Amino acid sequence: MSSNTHFGFKTVAEQEKAGMVRGVFDSVAARYDVMNDVMSMGLHRVWKAYTVAAAGVRPGDKVLDIAAGTGDLTRAFARQAGPSGMVCHTDINEAMLRTGRDRLVDDGVIVPSLLCNAEALPFADNSFDVVSVAFGLRNMTHKDQALTQMCRVLKPGGRLLVLEFSKVAKPLEKLYDWYSFKVLPRMGQFIAGDEASYRYLAESIRMHPGPAELKALMKACGFAHVDVHPLSGGVVALHIGLKC
Ligand SMILES: C[S@@+](CC[C@H](N)C(=O)[O-])C[C@H]1O[C@@H](n2cnc3c(N)ncnc32)[C@H](O)[C@@H]1O
Repeated sequence: MSSNTHFGFKTVAEQEKAGMVRGVFDSVAARYDVMNDVMSMGLHRVWKAYTVAAAGVRPGDKVLDIAAGTGDLTRAFARQAGPSGMVCHTDINEAMLRTGRDRLVDDGVIVPSLLCNAEALPFADNSFDVVSVAFGLRNMTHKDQALTQMCRVLKPGGRLLVLEFSKVAKPLEKLYDWYSFKVLPRMGQFIAGDEASYRYLAESIRMHPGPAELKALMKACGFAHVDVHPLSGGVVALHIGLKC
């Protein structure tokens, strides 16, 4: 029997969601980086820098960047892991992965790029010191399955970093709603010629679990300890899960 899930505010059959998400990222891949800078007013760079600092990747570490897209975290981790380490740049979407791989190569960062679904990771148990997923979990159909896979491929003592949109603080709600539903889709139309994908972005953020719910889900998926770091008034949160 088929179950339903959400694609933004729409209810869709579970088996339809991945194709719809693919459509969004096929459409935005070429303009993804410029849109990220414009719509977050550069803040995504600060959130990512915080994530990289919190990850504490050391020379020689093995790191898996999931839903890595255009590769911002991959690049930073590759510099920290150094020549004795290994960082995998992975994504389910070929257009995003290719755009990211080209950018990494242009920046002199040579790492493996792999097309793979976070819900069925093609890696052995206990393989990585650090796993990251930035702004990707929200788009996954079975978040529990993906988080269980992330825990499985981490070595004991390894950590998962989930950087994702979260629940904004109450006083900011009205302004944030106006920005998300009125400004963002128009910006998407103007810059990327795609209003619908940026409307999906705003809707998918509202449907994503809040910090306490995501923390509980990560624990249920095998993480022994989870720390939550709300950033920018709760616009995003970094969840760090420890595998024991
Ligand atoms: C908003 S982008 C984030 C890219 C990058 N991590 C960043 O922070 O700029 C979300 C990415 O999640 C990927 N994605 C969605 N579902 C996925 C899945 N099931 N497995 C792996 N990647 C997925 C999309 O293809 C897309 O590239």
